[in-house]
Amino acid sequence: MTRYRLQLRHPSGVTPIHVGDGVLSDDSSQLEDWVLDRRVFVISSPTVLGLHARVLAPLSERAATWNVLEVPEGEDAKSLEVAGSLWEAILEAGGKRDSRILAFGGGSVGDLAGFVAGSYMRGIDYAQVPTTLLAQVDAAIGGKTAINLTKAKNSVGLFHHPQRVVADTRLLRTLPREELRSGLMEVLKMAILSDGELFVALERDLEGLLSGDAATLSPVVAAAAEGKISIVERDPTERNERMLLNLGHTLGHALEAGLDYRLLRHGEAVGYGLLFAVRLAEKRGLSADTAGRIRQLVDRFELPKLPALEVDTLIEFMGRDKKIDEGGWRWVLPTELGSCEVVSDLAREEVEQALQAFLTELS
Ligand SMILES: NC(=O)c1ccc[n+]([C@@H]2O[C@H](COP(=O)([O-])OP(=O)(O)OC[C@H]3O[C@@H](n4cnc5c(N)ncnc54)[C@H](O)[C@@H]3O)[C@@H](O)[C@H]2O)c1
Repeated sequence: MTRYRLQLRHPSGVTPIHVGDGVLSDDSSQLEDWVLDRRVFVISSPTVLGLHARVLAPLSERAATWNVLEVPEGEDAKSLEVAGSLWEAILEAGGKRDSRILAFGGGSVGDLAGFVAGSYMRGIDYAQVPTTLLAQVDAAIGGKTAINLTKAKNSVGLFHHPQRVVADTRLLRTLPREELRSGLMEVLKMAILSDGELFVALERDLEGLLSGDAATLSPVVAAAAEGKISIVERDPTERNERMLLNLGHTLGHALEAGLDYRLLRHGEAVGYGLLFAVRLAEKRGLSADTAGRIRQLVDRFELPKLPALEVDTLIEFMGRDKKIDEGGWRWVLPTELGSCEVVSDLAREEVEQALQAFLTELS
């Protein structure tokens, strides 16, 4: 079985990232050493614990103490109340500066656990064991942590890199197809951004990937993770190049917010965002052939139908996106497969018209 050993160099050190089918149980990741004789706090969701808690049993035997802290499913975990209850529980159970937090779950659990680890006693060490595809290829990598405010997602957070990331693709077997689809859309984003070969692999293997087959998923997870690593290494705090990762997210975030974060998964919203970016890019010279290949691949994901939405509502949510600064809107648009540009000279009217036409075609 192929295992992939990657690493992310960042301002506070190096994070080893292990990817593969069964990589958690063979301990090539040395997580057992990382927990040895420490007070360990595992943060996880009921679903993940119900399905996979036993894979952590060997680790629990090495720790000095092992506390499992359960948090709500999905976005409900990323609140100040939940973070506060975790700080209190960790303190109550004797958590010290050398204690360790293990994030065991999807991106929601990872974002919350990283935030709690980054702020508890001014920062303690944590590791990520991501259990969704989206978290394995994206959320667990790069050191961004966050909780949500009532009206603004991910608005409070800090950069705090995990000491290890162990992405075991075997854990993805239990992931519902819709969650796999959501994660694969981030893989597709990465392929359009920086890896034409990855795009071809998606065209070839999409069905196997959507079925959660660990052997098919492993090289694709590793390639997407490598893509993210190389962009984050060049721009760790999102001052310039890391903005490329926003491909498909300008409209994607507005769709999620416009639908109250309930009707579309993150990757599904990004799928519509990618289609819209292709539309804008075609007007600036993206070839019809490349645009067609991207559209055909997104079609094969069979995204859920988009409910009726007003252009004005979406434009307003786009204006609130925290990635828009005083300089105005910036769009990430594909120029060819494996390459994108950041564009800031699109007139608002042009975007409004294109969005109206896009929504009309979809209805
Ligand atoms: N920090 C970053 O750089 C970054 C990047 C992208 C996304 N995110 C964040 O990630 C979050 C989304 O993460 P997500 O898509 O992983 O969703 P999620 O964490 O909300 O998980 C979705 C559901 O899948 C369940 N689940 C997790 N693993 C499972 C498994 N192996 N089998 C069956 N069910 C499983 C979870 O319990 C949950 O109910 C968002 O909050 C987003 O803001 C962060």
